[in-house]
Amino acid sequence: MKKSHQLKTGSIYCGDCLKMLDEIPDESIDLIYIDPPFNSNRNYETFWGDVQEKRAFTDRFGDADAYIRYMRPRVEKLYRVLKKTGSFYYHCDWHASHYVKIMLDEIFSFNNFKNEIVWKRTSAHNDPKQYGRNSDRIFFYTKSDKYTFHPQYTEYEEEYLNNFYRFKDKRGRYRLSDLTGAGVTKGDSNIEWKGYKPSTRKRHWAVPNWAVQKLIDKEVAELTIREKLEVLYENGFIEISKNGVPSFKRYLEEMKGAPLQEIWTDIPPISAQAKERLGYPTQKPMALMERIISSSSNKGDVVLDAFCGCGTTLVASQKLGRKWIGIDVSPTACRVMSQRLWDDFKLVEGKDFELVDIRKTEAELRIMPHFEFQNWAVIALGQLTDMSGIPNKRKSGDFGIDGRLYPIELEKKKKAGEDLFGDVDRYYPVQVKQMDKVGRPDIDNFYAAMKRDGRDKGYFIAFGFSGEAEKEVKRLYKTGDADINLVTVKKLLEMEANLL
Ligand SMILES: C[S@@+](CC[C@H](N)C(=O)[O-])C[C@H]1O[C@@H](n2cnc3c(N)ncnc32)[C@H](O)[C@@H]1O
Repeated sequence: MKKSHQLKTGSIYCGDCLKMLDEIPDESIDLIYIDPPFNSNRNYETFWGDVQEKRAFTDRFGDADAYIRYMRPRVEKLYRVLKKTGSFYYHCDWHASHYVKIMLDEIFSFNNFKNEIVWKRTSAHNDPKQYGRNSDRIFFYTKSDKYTFHPQYTEYEEEYLNNFYRFKDKRGRYRLSDLTGAGVTKGDSNIEWKGYKPSTRKRHWAVPNWAVQKLIDKEVAELTIREKLEVLYENGFIEISKNGVPSFKRYLEEMKGAPLQEIWTDIPPISAQAKERLGYPTQKPMALMERIISSSSNKGDVVLDAFCGCGTTLVASQKLGRKWIGIDVSPTACRVMSQRLWDDFKLVEGKDFELVDIRKTEAELRIMPHFEFQNWAVIALGQLTDMSGIPNKRKSGDFGIDGRLYPIELEKKKKAGEDLFGDVDRYYPVQVKQMDKVGRPDIDNFYAAMKRDGRDKGYFIAFGFSGEAEKEVKRLYKTGDADINLVTVKKLLEMEANLL
C-alpha cells in the first residue's frame, strides 16, 4: 500500500474490492461485514441486471475451490485493513459455508473464530426431497483477544417466563435464584446467616453485588457478606423457604432480556411489503445490520462493507453514528447507494460523501455485462454534458430508450423538494448499444421511440456507427425532424480524460 493513501470515510468505491482495498491503509477499520455473491465473481451481472437469469452454482465457478480461490485474496486484503481490535463478519450460505470457514480459520486463525451465526432467512417452505433450506450463515471472527463486544438481548420466550418467573409481588414478576455457589470456602463466605450455613450443603455465599450496589451509596466492596445479605433482606430482595434456605428475588423488569445466542430467528427477511425494500433480491434487512454493528462497534468507529450491494451496511452505520466505507463492483449498485443515502439522510454526493469510481478502459467496457454498460454510458454522458443521466431501472420494457438526461437544475429542484410541475417533461432520451456498427435500422428505431415520447432531441451511444446511420442522422437534422447526437464510447472516454 502506498504511504499517500489515507483513510477516507464517507466513500463509496466503485470497483472490484481486490483493487479498491489498496486505497485503504493498514489496520484502519474497526468492523468489516461482507455478503459476497456466493456463486460467482460475476454474479453482479445477474444481480443488478437481468434478475430472470439464474444459472447453477457449478455453471459459474465449476466448484467451491474456484469460489475460494476468488475470495481468498480479497479476504486477505480485508484482514490487512482490519484493526488489531477489529471484528469481521462473513455472510454466506450452504453453497460454500464449510469452505469459507476453513479459509477464514487459515487467515484469521482458528482461535479467533467467535461464532457461526445461523440466521433463519425464510419461513418454512417445501423442499420436497430434503429438509427446507431456510438459513444463512454469518461467520464472526476477531483479529485478536481484544475487541469490542456489546452483548445484545432479546425478549424472553413465554415458555421460559412461565417456567421461571413464576412468582409475583407488589414489585412485579420474579424468579428465585441461588444466593450460594457450589463448593465450600472458608471465612466470610461461609458464615451462618438467619440460621443457614451454606457449607452444610457443600456451598458458599455468592451474593449478587450488582443488586446490593443499587441499594447503597458507598462501594459494595466495602461491605462484608453479612452486611450485603442484610441490605438485600431489609429491602425485600431475599425470600426464606420453609426449610430455611434463603433465595434471591430476581425481578423480571431488572433483566435486560435473554442474552442473544448464535441462532437468530427473530429477524425476518425483507417482505414484499417492507418499507425498506428496494427490490434487489439479495438486500439484507436493516435490523440484521444494526444488530451486528451495535454488537461489534462503538459510535465513531469505522465500518467497511466491501460487497455492499444496495448499501444496507452504510445506511445502518450512518443511523448508528458510525463512519463508513462501501465498495461495490457494480456501478448500478453504487448509484443505488448514492440515491439511498440521499433518500434516507439527505446526504449529498460530492459534499457529504464521495463516490470514487475507477475509470474504465474501452476493452473493459466491451466485455461489461450489457445492463452495466448501459448504466455506465448513461451516467457518464450525463456527467460530461452537465446533465443528470438516469438509466432505466429495468432492462427491458422501455421500448428503445435506455435512459434519460435531465438538465441539472431540475435535479436540484427535485432534491430540494420543489414543485416540478411543468418541468418534469424536460429530458432527452438516450439509446445505448454495446456494438461497433450501429446501422440505419437502429437509428430508425430510436427515431420512432423518440417520436413516441414526443422528443426532438436525443443521444445514441455505441462503439461505432455505420456510414448509413450517420447519413440518416444528418438527414433528420436537416429536415428538422430530429436532432440525434451520435456519441462513440471513445469520445466519452476522451471527454472523461479531459475532465481529469
Ligand atoms: C449479495 S450482494 C450484497 C447485498 C448487500 N448486503 C445488501 O444488503 O444490499 C453482493 C454484492 O457484491 C458485489 N460484488 C460482486 N463482486 C464484487 C467484487 N469483486 N468487489 C466488490 N463488489 C463485488 C455485487 O455487485 C453485489 O452488489
